[in-house]
Amino acid sequence: MSAATPELAKYELDGFLRFEGHESGLLQGVVTTKLCTGRFFLHGAHVVDFQPAGEEPVLFLSSEAVYRDGKAIRGGVPICFPWFNAKKLPNGDVDQDSPAHGLVRQQPWQMLSSSKEEAGLQVVLGLYSEPYRLEYKLTFGSKLHVNMTIHNVSEQTQEPEVALHTYFRVADLGEMTVEGDVVGLPFLDQLTGETHPGANAPIAFNAETDRIYHGAAPRIDVCDPAANRKVILESSGSSSTVVWNPWIAKAARMADFGDEEYQQMCCVETANIGEDRMRVAPRAKTEIGFELRTETF
Ligand code: BG6
Repeated sequence: MSAATPELAKYELDGFLRFEGHESGLLQGVVTTKLCTGRFFLHGAHVVDFQPAGEEPVLFLSSEAVYRDGKAIRGGVPICFPWFNAKKLPNGDVDQDSPAHGLVRQQPWQMLSSSKEEAGLQVVLGLYSEPYRLEYKLTFGSKLHVNMTIHNVSEQTQEPEVALHTYFRVADLGEMTVEGDVVGLPFLDQLTGETHPGANAPIAFNAETDRIYHGAAPRIDVCDPAANRKVILESSGSSSTVVWNPWIAKAARMADFGDEEYQQMCCVETANIGEDRMRVAPRAKTEIGFELRTETF
């Protein structure tokens, strides 16, 4: 039986979308279509599951994830906005009072609409987070399509950073590679602070990896030979890509992440960070999004 509040019940679509209370008490939308199943939380407008019919889940979700107000869920697609990493004060110092990666991934969003479209089941979530009004459109079909519209509701130009911080589930990190347009782009190694020119080789993982690639990468392939599939990530409105894996020591330090789980995930984030931050004129809007689809090798 649906656990939706009367306010949420009006967005349920019989047999396709229902709302349930998660064991944590947070509310989640459960999507069931012929093409896929999926799940998202109102908390953070956080997609935690996308599973095309007959396939393994595409997104990684930690078994140690914590589900509560004020905390981001470890896995799925957290939305980092309007800053990435630590918040910087105007004088360049780190704002110790603000959480990493912005506020919106740990705030309750509202449902704005739900509908059955040709491409799949579509929901739109919204959040007002001064000076922004955000609309987040999710389409669950044979592909997962995600699009965030950022409205600047102020009279000043705003320069937010953003990262749609997708956690990909992989069968074996040791065999997987990240390929496509990100290969060859220059990157900032966040672990050393050094910048590197692009290298023309697939990205592989054999140590902690935390890089911000600068430049548009409209198509990236997350290749997972151990699962006999690749996930194709096509982005729009994005000029940075973060590639992250915590590896052994950081995995052990993260309380909401299993010690061995670093072998089953890799983050490839559709972003605009640092020199690529967005510039939104007063009363104007901008967009960022991506689409995920799978292919067998
Ligand atoms: C990545 C960053 O995007 O997110 C990493 O590049 C960071 O430096 C990781 O460790 C996870 O961040 P958080 O705040 O979700 O633990």
